[in-house]
Amino acid sequence: MCPPPPPPSIVTDTESDLLARIRVHGAVPRHIAIIMDGNGRWARERHMPRPFGHRSGMKAVRAVIEGCLEAGVEWLSLFAFSQENWQRPETEVSALMALLEEYIAREAAELRQQGVQVYVHGDLDRLSAAAASAVERVRRETAGGERLGLNLFISYGGRAELVRAARLLADEVQQGGLTPDAIDEQAFRARLYTAEGPDPDLLIRTSGEQRLSNFLLWQVAYSELYISNVLWPDFDRAALYEAICDFQRRDRRFGRVNT
Ligand code: IPE
Ligand code: IPE
Ligand code: MG
Repeated sequence: MCPPPPPPSIVTDTESDLLARIRVHGAVPRHIAIIMDGNGRWARERHMPRPFGHRSGMKAVRAVIEGCLEAGVEWLSLFAFSQENWQRPETEVSALMALLEEYIAREAAELRQQGVQVYVHGDLDRLSAAAASAVERVRRETAGGERLGLNLFISYGGRAELVRAARLLADEVQQGGLTPDAIDEQAFRARLYTAEGPDPDLLIRTSGEQRLSNFLLWQVAYSELYISNVLWPDFDRAALYEAICDFQRRDRRFGRVNT
């Protein structure tokens, strides 16, 4: 068991102390999902425009990827842009899309070297030609990475993902490849974007908001929830390790009784 965290008045553990604690406990979440929130507030605190916060959030993305690699997490799912985020002002949406392209141009080679395979999920038909080609590039260049599966959710909505799965099943029934009584949870799950990996064990949301905002509605049925008050650009490896340590203290019952 991870020991209880120190009271806040005491100097907080360093990154390496936390990693050592995680390793002693041993049970590392296989899949961590993160709602990366708080970029706008981070920028506002500095009297800067919102895109400045989004740009600053890129280093937190690198930190959590490296932290996951170090801790031995197998899957990381990052909510980068929701279907609802298209309703933000045009200038903010274009800044976010430009950052996506820049992130891929800058990081694809390193991700590949680190053994990270990138998957991108969402309604990608809405992306510009340049953003769509960046997505194709990172998929291609990181294919075969075996240390960490990185799911990037862009133009994504959880309800839309469920509707898409239902439609895929309906099509298969119509084509005669499937009968309605063969539609069970496993068949449904297999039509989700995340079919290849396990469901998230741990869902982290930064910036203190306590809602799902339409993220992975099916997959988080039994995820442990961890709300961090840290704004996304300030989220670092130590913050990730604290979340993992907290996860290791949870008693996951899945509806059963633990003896
Ligand atoms: C998260 O930060 C990034 C995206 C949703 C794209 P926000 O932009 O939502 O930041 P806040 O919540 O306004 O602080
Ligand atoms: C959720 O954050 C989407 C992403 C982090 C990409 P939002 O900031 O869009 O969510 P709400 O509007 O606070 O629910
Ligand atoms: Mg937000």
